[in-house]
Amino acid sequence: MNIQVSRITEPDIPGAITAIQKAFENDPYALWVYSDRENLSLVRNRVSLGNRCRWGMRNGLFYVAKDPDSVDPEQVVGVAMWMPPKAPGSKEGWSEWLSNWRLYFQQISMNLWYGRGGLNIKRYYIWKSKQAEAQSEIWTDEKGYYFLNIMVVLPDQQGKGIGRSLAQEITNKADTEGRKCYLESSRDVPNMKIYESYGFHFVKQIDCDDGGVICPLFCMVRDPKTIT
Ligand SMILES: CC(C)(COP(=O)(O)OP(=O)(O)OC[C@H]1O[C@@H](n2cnc3c(N)ncnc32)[C@H](O)[C@@H]1OP(=O)(O)O)[C@@H](O)C(=O)NCCC(=O)NCCS
Repeated sequence: MNIQVSRITEPDIPGAITAIQKAFENDPYALWVYSDRENLSLVRNRVSLGNRCRWGMRNGLFYVAKDPDSVDPEQVVGVAMWMPPKAPGSKEGWSEWLSNWRLYFQQISMNLWYGRGGLNIKRYYIWKSKQAEAQSEIWTDEKGYYFLNIMVVLPDQQGKGIGRSLAQEITNKADTEGRKCYLESSRDVPNMKIYESYGFHFVKQIDCDDGGVICPLFCMVRDPKTIT
């Protein structure tokens, strides 16, 4: 399979959103955080993901995968959004600060227009706080970590090496720079095996616990490979 990986552009965003929605349809974290299934709104979710994708385009290292030999060479078959490394304790810059506030106001106006769309706000903040706790404990390397924030491949395209091609875009760079990578997976099986094949290893399980309804997340780190 001849997979082409490139930085995301505005026309790729609808396809990226479709890939994210399809790949996360039965994801344990998505089912836990969007627990109000009666009010689940995929339309509201598309708007939210669109805001998030545009934020990622400005602040992250955001890639899409396409298959130029397929019937639809422009179709987004996979997505990977990484956050660049930051030294521990470093402050956010002005443009990041502005971008974060912009995303915050976009999400507020979206909530006013569409409602919560099935999102369980209490659980969202449980996850945020557990994530921050885990990252402050695990991210000890002075050089910072490339953080794989979103990684999906369309369900009918999984297992063909697309995830590997997307991951390598940054893992190769991390190897050259001697930097570590980090991710949180919402599935142990099969994802941990898949990520181990990209060079990650398991470091910690976080339990996002809402009164006994627990969503476990699996934190993994990848050490840089020595380049000879
Ligand atoms: C996780 C995911 C991104 C991996 O992408 P992918 O393109 O399917 O994975 P790859 O084809 O690169 O697979 C890499 C390796 O894992 C193996 N693998 C892939 N799917 C597997 C499965 N279901 N079970 C066991 N091994 C599997 C592949 O055979 C390959 O091994 P090899 O290099 O020895 O041949 C993709 O499966 C996905 O989108 N899953 C659903 C959404 C999700 O969970 N995202 C991650 C959130 S953290």
